[in-house]
Amino acid sequence: MSNKKILVTGGAGFIGGNFVQYMVNKYPNYDIYNLDLLTYAGDLSKHKSIEQEKNYHFIKADITDRNEVFAIFEREKFDYVAHFAAESHVDRSITEPEIFIKTNVLGTQVLLDASKEFNIKKFVHVSTDEVYGELDFDPETFFTEETPLQPNSPYSASKASSDLLVRAYHETFNLPMNITRCSNNYGPFHFPEKLIPLTISRVLNDQKIPVYGDGKNIRDWLHVTDHCAAIDLVMHEGANGEVYNVGGHNERTNLEVVKTIINTLEKSVDLIEFVTDRLGHDKRYAIDPTKLEKLGWEPTYNFETGIAQTIQWYMDNKEWWEQILSGDYKKYFEKQYTFEK
Ligand code: NAD
Ligand code: TYD
Repeated sequence: MSNKKILVTGGAGFIGGNFVQYMVNKYPNYDIYNLDLLTYAGDLSKHKSIEQEKNYHFIKADITDRNEVFAIFEREKFDYVAHFAAESHVDRSITEPEIFIKTNVLGTQVLLDASKEFNIKKFVHVSTDEVYGELDFDPETFFTEETPLQPNSPYSASKASSDLLVRAYHETFNLPMNITRCSNNYGPFHFPEKLIPLTISRVLNDQKIPVYGDGKNIRDWLHVTDHCAAIDLVMHEGANGEVYNVGGHNERTNLEVVKTIINTLEKSVDLIEFVTDRLGHDKRYAIDPTKLEKLGWEPTYNFETGIAQTIQWYMDNKEWWEQILSGDYKKYFEKQYTFEK
């Protein structure tokens, strides 16, 4: 592989952070640039293992700042962009939708303009299956790349809007691009506001687990390493202009997920607390990954092996998530959850 300069936006967050580490280690002759604003969701302490590597670079910047982004593109002359930076938590999009539109829609548009101006070879837009809306509980129905976009939350509406902009820049300006739409990720460095790390960290601390509604909503879980491999493959091999769904057929109800974690840690199901349901709570997500599999992708984890690895990681890396739980996140948790703790 010849040398390439790759811009990763949001590389201090969960998936972008895993992707940065994956790429720095896999391609010593690529230069990987992590551009991140370091919002509440971004943290650089996760990159201790790579921060000394010659092919890793960090740029603190805001993707919505046009002048700053253009100056960086002009200076660095990137070959590829992998765009992860976003506001990503559905619950926050219900209480504070505006920042989702600013970051996810306007931020993407700024990056598209810069990518067009500086002739990026490919823009990989990391999106989500949530843009398709929800499925019913019929286990034979799946999201395909042809499923119409019907987002239900401010978060998924902002992501769908950015997907449409990426498509439009391809159609109008011939910007080379791919869009990936992945199911729910889990794994190391997942911010503990999301279901799986929230449950692991709270079970380890013998605290109640807030389960929304009846806990029967279904998500299709993918280990973050398998997602990183998918983005790498699409960046190198994806057909220009195509959308690829990413998922590994690991559908579980939220209650099944929570009980698996409780059982693995040998704690009591009495920790489960059913709380008021999320507004507009999507019933079920499930991905048909056939198109990506034809490109050569297959996941290395199933849910059982992936969740075991993840629980072990949270047990071995307490200092990472404890520092988050003791910071601003504490205030968020108290505002978000009103149940008896
Ligand atoms: P995350 O919230 O953990 O990280 C987002 C990162 O973006 C943070 O480091 C944050 O500092 C950075 N950021 C936010 N606003 C910025 C700005 N204005 N300028 C520069 N950086 C900014 O998110 P994640 O879970 O890693 O998700 C990454 C991407 O993958 C998102 O686009 C998300 O929509 C998508 N996605 C997530 C999932 C999932 O299960 N988490 C599934 C499918 C797709
Ligand atoms: P989440 O991790 O927020 O991901 P997403 O909303 O993007 O799917 O939530 C996963 C599922 O878990 C979702 O159905 C909502 C549910 N959930 C709870 O039951 N309790 C919680 O405290 C959280 C954060 C989520």
